[in-house]
Amino acid sequence: MSAAAARFSPAGAISGELAVPGDKSISHRAVMVASLCDDPVDVLGFGASADTLATVATMRALGVKIERPDDDVLRVHGVGLRGLQAPSGRIDVENAGTLMRLLPGILAGQMGEFVLDGDDSIRRRPMGRIAGPLAEMGVALETTDGCPPVRMHVSGQVAPVTYRLPVASAQVKSCVLFAGLFAERGMTVVEEPVPTRDHTERMLRDAGVPVDRRPGRVAVSPVTRLQLDEVRVPGDFSSAAPFIVAATVVHGSGLTLRGVGINPTRTGLLTVMERMGARVGLFNRRLAGAEPVADVEVRPAELVATEIEPELVPALIDELPLVALLACFARGETTIRGAGELRVKESDRIDTVVAALNAVGGHVEALEDGFRIRGVPARLRGGSVDAAGDHRVAMLGAVAGVCSQHGVDVRGSDALGVSFPDFSERLAGVTG
Ligand code: S3P
Repeated sequence: MSAAAARFSPAGAISGELAVPGDKSISHRAVMVASLCDDPVDVLGFGASADTLATVATMRALGVKIERPDDDVLRVHGVGLRGLQAPSGRIDVENAGTLMRLLPGILAGQMGEFVLDGDDSIRRRPMGRIAGPLAEMGVALETTDGCPPVRMHVSGQVAPVTYRLPVASAQVKSCVLFAGLFAERGMTVVEEPVPTRDHTERMLRDAGVPVDRRPGRVAVSPVTRLQLDEVRVPGDFSSAAPFIVAATVVHGSGLTLRGVGINPTRTGLLTVMERMGARVGLFNRRLAGAEPVADVEVRPAELVATEIEPELVPALIDELPLVALLACFARGETTIRGAGELRVKESDRIDTVVAALNAVGGHVEALEDGFRIRGVPARLRGGSVDAAGDHRVAMLGAVAGVCSQHGVDVRGSDALGVSFPDFSERLAGVTG
């Protein structure tokens, strides 16, 4: 990442209406699953960003024709379940952890040699967590000291498995479920102690896969073909979150976000904000394909501190930096525990969030697996934040800026492009 810097000035109010880009998790999955279908699939509301375009480029490199008639529309000409071709060179996932972790499950059912690599941050992401279950399925994935680059030499033979997730991870769950599609016979079962985002299960069921879901476990049976009519991608709750937080903190705000995905495995932020006294309403609930969506209305509120228990963490894992920001404004002390996974995200998000918030006047302490935050119900001072190559830290700095007294400079603001390329323009559009 270059060292682009952007300034985010204090806002008088956050108001008006906004639509956020298509969900990143669902966009990745839509491109991958559509690539395995026999017939062309239209992906509507695709959330184009550096991460999801890396998935498009990867599937093209694997022999899938993908047209992009509009910014947010794809037509994917799938090659069938086992039709991907090994490319001559490495697959470059860039910064996309979801691509790096999900694709090996799909490659398990193909034939040939595949090497997956990415940027410096990807090369620090643990891969043993997928190598373990894939090995149990008879699929070898060689890592480099537990991290990318990874190498797979595959013959398409996969054994079913019953796998209990040692860490709550939708990426690991999805990888195992994808590999389970290719198993010789028998169901592949993933047991999860705490629910994680279930977009893969919903999409596979839509594509005709027998998916058996019970509390604490999900199972898929092998199939010979996938079929999707189209995928309608809802607005990304994680991209809506910075706006929801800003409109809560800045007095005089009144914001409506249209068509936001409200899958309950993603909206832990709303649960926490309700406890803190926020005023966020969901209206016009409906379905976009397999996913629930709504319009979200936000009004400012005085906040009180809360405790975030480990069971809630997976449903707001990507929003925890914003929760830490909210807690800076809440009366009392907030603790967040059970969030050790933040240490292996695009950056060590416990250290980078603490550094960012304290640099702008917050009182945040790093815990091994979370944060302790002392709230002061007044605007943060402002200052300068280093995004540390992490899009969520860049967004945190931006929101801190609009909620501050003097503004915030975000160094490395180009990281925003990883999930939300026109974040700054959309923020400017609702900032008064
Ligand atoms: C994702 C799962 C989560 C999340 C990431 C996207 C997904 O990661 O943090 O941004 O699309 O499955 P983990 O599975 O590592 O928790």
